[in-house]
Amino acid sequence: MKPSQKKMDTDARVISQQVLLSILKHHHSLTPEQLKPLEKLDDPRDRRWAREIIYGVMRWRVRLDAIISRLLNKPIKAKDQDVHIAILMGLYQLIYMRTPDHAAVSVVVNLVKRSGKPWATGLVNASLRRFIREQDKLSALVDQNDAVRLSHPDWLFSEFKKNWPQQAELIMKNNNTRAPMTLRVNKNLSARNEYSLQLTKKSIAHTCSELQPDAITLEQPMESKLLPGYDAGVVSVQDSAAQCAAALLCLRKGNKVLDACAAPGGKSAHILESCSDLESLTVLDIDPVRVESIKKNMQRLRLPAANIKLEYKVMDALFSGKALATQRFDRILLDAPCSATGVIRRHPDIKFFRRPADIEKLLALQYQLLTTLWSLLAPKGILLYATCSIFNTENSQQIQQFLAANDNARELPFDMPWALKMPVGCQILPGNDLNTVNADGFYYARIQRVN
Ligand SMILES: C[S@@+](CC[C@H](N)C(=O)[O-])C[C@H]1O[C@@H](n2cnc3c(N)ncnc32)[C@H](O)[C@@H]1O
Repeated sequence: MKPSQKKMDTDARVISQQVLLSILKHHHSLTPEQLKPLEKLDDPRDRRWAREIIYGVMRWRVRLDAIISRLLNKPIKAKDQDVHIAILMGLYQLIYMRTPDHAAVSVVVNLVKRSGKPWATGLVNASLRRFIREQDKLSALVDQNDAVRLSHPDWLFSEFKKNWPQQAELIMKNNNTRAPMTLRVNKNLSARNEYSLQLTKKSIAHTCSELQPDAITLEQPMESKLLPGYDAGVVSVQDSAAQCAAALLCLRKGNKVLDACAAPGGKSAHILESCSDLESLTVLDIDPVRVESIKKNMQRLRLPAANIKLEYKVMDALFSGKALATQRFDRILLDAPCSATGVIRRHPDIKFFRRPADIEKLLALQYQLLTTLWSLLAPKGILLYATCSIFNTENSQQIQQFLAANDNARELPFDMPWALKMPVGCQILPGNDLNTVNADGFYYARIQRVN
C-alpha cells in the first residue's frame, strides 16, 4: 500500500465519508458493523469526531438536503454521491459543530480532491461559501416547512402528528438528540451502589434513577469495553425503557419462560439476572448470527445460574407453535419486530430506511406472532408484549384487537410513573422532557391467559 493510501485509510474525514456513502448509497443500516472502519482511527478524539459527523449528518439530513437543493442549480448525479456527502459533511460542521468557516470548507474541498474529482472542488467551495454568506436567509427559507425544520421525512412527520398531536414537536426534536448511555448492573455480581462507587472512583460521572433499580446513566457515553468490570460481566449497556421487561413479567420460582424474539438478548439476560430460580428459559430468534451473539453475551455475564435450563432455538417464531407444542410456558416475552420509531435518536437511519408500506407488513406479523405464541402460554400464564415503536397501531390498538378476539385473554394492568397510560398498556415517549428517566420510546402491555 502506498503511504498516501495508508494515510487516507486512517483519516477520520475520509473514513466518515466512506461510512456515510455505504449507508446512503448502498442502503446499509447504521449498525456497529458499518462503524467498524472507525477502529482504524488510533486517536479517540478522531473516533469521536467521526461518530459525531456520521450520526449528525444522518439526524439532520432532511434539513441539510433542503439547504443543498437551494444551493445547487441541479442535483448532483447519483454516481457522484460522494460529492453530495462531502457537502452534507461541510454543512453539518458549519451549522451544528461550530467549526470555523475556513476549516469546514477546506476539509470538504480536500475530501473531494482526494477522491479524484477535481472538477467538483469549485462546486463544493462555491456552495459552502454561498451558504456562509446567506446562512440566515437560507435557514429561514427551508424552516418554513415544519418537517424540514425538524428534519423528518414527510410521512413520518405526519404519522407523529397524527399519533401524538400534543407531543409530536418534542418527539421529533428529541429524535435529533444524542441518546444517553445507560447501564444495567448485573445484580448477581454487584449491587448497584457498589458499582456506582467504582464509577465514582474512576471519575465517571453518572446518575442512579430511583425509578429503575438496576440502571445507571452515564453523563457522557464511553466505549463499553472501557467500563470497570465489563469483561467480567458486571454491567451491560441497555436503555432504561428496555430494562422494564424483566420486572413486568412477574417472574416466579419454577417458571418456564420463553423469550420469543430474543436477539441480541438484552432482555433475556436481564430475566436471568432478575430471577435465579426459574426452571427454564428458552431463547428464540429467527436470526442465527444474532443467536450466536446472545450466547457470547451470556458467557460474559456468567449466566445462567447452574440450576436454570437455558435453551437456544434458531427458528421463526411463527412456526414455534408446532416446534414447541409439547411445552406450555408460564411467561412469554414477545419483544416484537416493529417500526422502531421510539429509538430514532439511537438509530437515525430509521428515518430513511423505514417506509409506510413496512408498517402494514409489521402489523400483520405482530398479530400473527401474538396468536401463535398465545397457544404456547399455560393457563394463568402471562404474555408481555413489547415494542420500541411509538405508533398506536403497533401498540395499544394491536393489543385491543387481540383482546377483543380472544375470550381467554385479559389485560393485567400496571403503573409506570414515567409512561403514559394507554387504553391498554403503557407508552414511554422518547427523551428527558417526555419521560423523567430519559429513556427510549417503548410500549408494554401485559396479558394473562384466563384458562
Ligand atoms: C426488537 S428485536 C428484540 C430485542 C431483544 N428482545 C433484546 O432485548 O435484546 C426483535 C428480534 O425479533 C427477531 N425476529 C423477527 N422476526 C422474527 C420471527 N418471525 N421469529 C423469531 N424472531 C424474529 C429479530 O431477529 C430481532 O432479533
